[in-house]
Amino acid sequence: MGRYAINGMGRIGRTLFRVLHQRGQLKNLIAVNDLMAKENLIYLLKYDSIRGTFNQDIQSTANGFSVDGHEIICFQQPNIAQLNWQQHAIDVVVEATGLFTHSSEMQQHVAVGAKKVLLTTFSKDLPSTIWGVNDQQDLTLVSPGDCTINCVAPLLHVVEQAFGIESAHINVIQGYTTRQQLIDAPYKGLRRGRAAAHSIIPFEVNIRPVLETIFPALRGKIETMSTRVPIPCGALADISLVLKKATSADRLNAFIQQKANHEMKNSVAITFDPIVSADVLGNPHSSIVDGALTRVTNGTHAKVLTWFDNEWGYSNRLADWLHKMR
Ligand SMILES: NC(=O)c1ccc[n+]([C@@H]2O[C@H](COP(=O)([O-])OP(=O)(O)OC[C@H]3O[C@@H](n4cnc5c(N)ncnc54)[C@H](OP(=O)(O)O)[C@@H]3O)[C@@H](O)[C@H]2O)c1
Repeated sequence: MGRYAINGMGRIGRTLFRVLHQRGQLKNLIAVNDLMAKENLIYLLKYDSIRGTFNQDIQSTANGFSVDGHEIICFQQPNIAQLNWQQHAIDVVVEATGLFTHSSEMQQHVAVGAKKVLLTTFSKDLPSTIWGVNDQQDLTLVSPGDCTINCVAPLLHVVEQAFGIESAHINVIQGYTTRQQLIDAPYKGLRRGRAAAHSIIPFEVNIRPVLETIFPALRGKIETMSTRVPIPCGALADISLVLKKATSADRLNAFIQQKANHEMKNSVAITFDPIVSADVLGNPHSSIVDGALTRVTNGTHAKVLTWFDNEWGYSNRLADWLHKMR
């Protein structure tokens, strides 16, 4: 059936917990590890400012907590080497602390008994495999990239197939995360240290090397940046493309719609409703194209805007990966 553990019960760990519950797969979650006290974790699982109250029966137990009678063992262990996944016959550990991204660090979970490890971001040294875009054979250590690339790469993949891409400029407008500051503080990327809820903050994002690996023909032809905005969740990727083949906004949308209905239906959707970021919260897709905003100028200069819930959409892809790796 697949036995899972999550290391790091922050935003992504807890969102994945809810996604697994929604999919009827919480019984596969055997253990979790974080630094916080168990009572604090139970509280944060139950009450969530973005997701609302989790209306299931959560009870503290001797070894962890139970959800509707299913017990999840709970550890507070900062050092992976001190965990014992073998004892709990864990098939896949989700490494969601954001700290252990080198393959040698991921491998520590295997050394203590896990069969496979699924990272929740880019690895420092492993190639990224983006759901629905590229593939990998050996699933021992999987680096599925972050929420941004899971939104952008499927869209580029679809457009590249039909029209060819000469060059791309991508700006991802996104809510703040725990890797920003609540009030001004020193930080090595100076703007990143500014109060997250006070300003629109231009951010460096380095998804370009991964995009260039996935789309080698675009090497040297992609620019990326992010703009963090004062909302706690939700994002919009603004993608400007120079296409090889001329098209119209209607034809571009029609092609995206066709892919969204078929082979990309897990990850890509298209809407023509006049939505705002709050409307995509809880949407399981990685990329929700706003068809009404698609523009094409002079046949080959296209702009596509595509929404995503950076937590919920991404955690749904993690759940897809878990199902594949189990
Ligand atoms: N948030 C998003 O929208 C998003 C989307 C896609 C991918 N990601 C990626 O997912 C990763 C996690 O992001 P997040 O937003 O979930 O961060 P987060 O909310 O800060 O969660 C990380 C959790 O791991 C805990 N932790 C720290 N050190 C640990 C250790 N040694 N062992 C076990 N637990 C430990 C943290 O505890 P403390 O708080 O006490 O340090 C925190 O609860 C990052 O790499 C991020 O880039 C995030």
